[in-house]
Amino acid sequence: MEYALTPKQNDVILEYITEEPKITLLSGAKRAGKTYLAILMYLNHIAQYENQGLSFIIGGSTQASIRRNILNDMELFVGELKLDKTNAVTIFGNKVYCFDGANADAWKKVRGFTAAGALMNEGTALHDTFVKEVISRCSYEGARIVIDTNPENPSHSVKTDYIDHDGQRLSNGRLNIKAFNFKLIDNTFLDPEYIESIIASTPSGMFTERDIHGNWVAAEGAIYKDFDEKRHFIDSIDHSKIVKYFVGVDWGYEHNGVIVVMGKDAPGAYYLIEEHAERHMEIDYWVNVAKDVQRRYGNIIFWCDSARPEHIARFRKEDIKAKNGHKNVLHGIETVAKKIKTDQFKVVRKNAPLFDKEIFMYVWNSDKGEPVKEWDDCMDSVRYAVFSEEITGHRKSDKSTHDALQSLGL
Ligand SMILES: Nc1ncnc2c1ncn2[C@@H]1O[C@H](COP(=O)(O)OP(=O)(O)OP(=O)(O)O)[C@@H](O)[C@H]1O
Ligand SMILES: [Mg+2]
Repeated sequence: MEYALTPKQNDVILEYITEEPKITLLSGAKRAGKTYLAILMYLNHIAQYENQGLSFIIGGSTQASIRRNILNDMELFVGELKLDKTNAVTIFGNKVYCFDGANADAWKKVRGFTAAGALMNEGTALHDTFVKEVISRCSYEGARIVIDTNPENPSHSVKTDYIDHDGQRLSNGRLNIKAFNFKLIDNTFLDPEYIESIIASTPSGMFTERDIHGNWVAAEGAIYKDFDEKRHFIDSIDHSKIVKYFVGVDWGYEHNGVIVVMGKDAPGAYYLIEEHAERHMEIDYWVNVAKDVQRRYGNIIFWCDSARPEHIARFRKEDIKAKNGHKNVLHGIETVAKKIKTDQFKVVRKNAPLFDKEIFMYVWNSDKGEPVKEWDDCMDSVRYAVFSEEITGHRKSDKSTHDALQSLGL
């Protein structure tokens, strides 16, 4: 095998080979070179047992992610890897079984196994019971475990149960746990321009700490830290720039119900054009608001909070193009926060009083690593709209936009 390593990878693999920790953790920034190294370490380990017909484990959140993150890169070193019926591949004369480990009952699949090693990818995406079962299955003499992961909340079990015990030794003196931290700049194979652009577009605070510096920090304080009144509030919108309109909907009765109309320009910037926020309104009221929006903007998509399917069904009955908004909270927030950081998010201030109120009140619950469920109604509707559009709609224009422009006389 011929390969070059980054200086960081070199340091880590040297310690891995000389100190022989039973469990090795590579945690840190995205794209830092963790998985690439984890694969090399694991192949090095399997090679020690060449042609012994032993069992090894690869764990990842899904079979698809194992293929994408592990097997594809592994093929660079050992040639084509085809899974057999039991989701196993043969490497250096041993069987390597692939298990998806995201779900609560995933650990059952590895029950009864005796393995001589395990590679677990994206440790925090795996269920805690799976991680622990896999480790306890590695009972063959000399078995070693490598886990790579991005950082999350510092209360996560990957941190508290393993990383925080860095340096722990077994009673026989063998090093049990060794943890290494990676930063984005550790990957010297990345183009410096790429690194610069990633740093420039990563939201301040938690996202920069985790994704760039690789630190396990809690989410705290304001969620949209880069929002700047001077740069991100605008007085009016130039409709000639908008190539697509769409809507975000957060249902509410005791809390505010919110409908926001968003626009997107050709380079991909988002505009909050108008906001409708009311409490104690029945669904008939929201149908009227939606109908009015539809009359003015055309038959555009309404990305809705999926928690109230009966309201979505009612919208559809009224010929409103209502769809379930994409709800992954952290990814959604990161998407909006990136747009804010790169000045690709503007709000017509006079049309969005609730947004104006919430933007600086919308904060993290540090313990849970999720937003405090207050001052979040407009924020949620914006998140559904922007995140759903980002992951589904890369067409710059469509018929409804054309209709909308016509109806606005543009
Ligand atoms: N030593 C190396 N030689 C060549 N390419 C490398 C090397 N190390 C890493 N890379 C490449 O750099 C990119 C990022 O590496 P890798 O996937 O290992 O990062 P990661 O830390 O696992 O990132 P993520 O947290 O996003 O999963 C990949 O395209 C990988 O192939
Ligand atoms: Mg990786």
